Amino acid sequence: MNTMDDVLQMRREYLMPCLGYFYKEPPVFAKGEMQYLYDEQGKKYLDFFAGVSVMNCGHSNPEILDKVIGQLQTLQHVTNIYLTRPVVELARRLSEVLPGDLHNSFFCMSGSEANEGAMLLARIYTGKRKFIVLENSLHGRTHLTMAATNIPMWRADPFLTEEDFYFVSHEPDQTLSEIEAILKKDDNIAAFICEPIQGNGGIITPPDWYFREIRQLLQRYGILMICDEVQTGFARTGSMFAIEQYGMVPDIMTMSKALGNGIPVAAFSTTKEIAASFTSPSASTLGGNPVACASALAVLDYIRDHDLCKRAKVLGELLFDKLTELKKKYPIIKELRGKGLMLGMELCGTHQEPLPEVTDRILEQLKEDGIILGKNGLHRNVLAFQPPLVISENDIDYLVERLDAALQSIKISA
Ligand SMILES: Cc1ncc(COP(=O)(O)O)c(C=O)c1O
Repeated sequence: MNTMDDVLQMRREYLMPCLGYFYKEPPVFAKGEMQYLYDEQGKKYLDFFAGVSVMNCGHSNPEILDKVIGQLQTLQHVTNIYLTRPVVELARRLSEVLPGDLHNSFFCMSGSEANEGAMLLARIYTGKRKFIVLENSLHGRTHLTMAATNIPMWRADPFLTEEDFYFVSHEPDQTLSEIEAILKKDDNIAAFICEPIQGNGGIITPPDWYFREIRQLLQRYGILMICDEVQTGFARTGSMFAIEQYGMVPDIMTMSKALGNGIPVAAFSTTKEIAASFTSPSASTLGGNPVACASALAVLDYIRDHDLCKRAKVLGELLFDKLTELKKKYPIIKELRGKGLMLGMELCGTHQEPLPEVTDRILEQLKEDGIILGKNGLHRNVLAFQPPLVISENDIDYLVERLDAALQSIKISA
């Protein structure tokens, strides 16, 4: 029995069957080094998914590790009823990098929890209970956030409270009129929640005017806007937060994933005025613990010191140009979209039918070549390019060369 069989068998035996995995023969990852992963046999892989946009600063980044290990050796946890320095430092640093007047933060552990908290805050501040959400959205696994998730495969709970949610089209020419129709008939809306670029939904990237106009419409009716930057945040798209590229500031922003670069940490942040309404007691036992905060502070330092926003922008444009060349060669590439190093390539057949099996074959072939690529989209037919932001131009060249070969072999055998 090789190590993969052994791990897979234990996974089936002891974990819940709801957990899916990529690949027929999944590698067992044993080590990470910046943009590279190694399996238990020592095979090296170029990581182009970063654990779903988490490892923006690279695996086991020594500059970050130093600070996290230093914190582990001094103080790990006391909980937030006591004072510690890292959590207030992190809140202060976040207020400096957050856009506009976003200022106060609440720390927790996962993206789901951050969105749940943001939605709770919106209800408390407005005294209203319902939400407007974009189709194709993914906001989490808790009760409220799963109900706010539109992708059918991520709505496991058979008893979601449908009546508190309106889903509107993410087609730019329809969103505004659908939102306005809801606001005209229902005065019990607390907030509109959106991902600036829908990650799991297939790297859906709205036009530049989109969120500014939605924001103006919402403001006319006094509705809050919550921006879920869980997947797009922390330099991924070429700016600290993706919404900055849409030229507006939301009322509440949520973040997780890349904030900890592999250590669980999440937050929701808002203006002083909205934060002031959240006075009923709330706490998170592990939220804002010193180790998580030390990691997040090290991430913010690393992004600044290594100018990762610029790096994601420049390398993202380079990758986009090279993928555009592939698009000219292969008609199954229906569309390329995204910003910075968050790019998606949608694969469809001659009648525009989604090609999830072809997407899987490409992932398998790239794995053999030592490349870990992601996939997402409603039909799981979108190749997702979301590498650690520390990749090099050579890494991009290698990826594009192997992807070209994979597309070529699929064309020949199709
Ligand atoms: C945009 C977005 N929001 C929320 C979540 C949920 O985050 P978590 O898995 O940390 O709970 C995800 C997870 O992929 C996400 O992509």
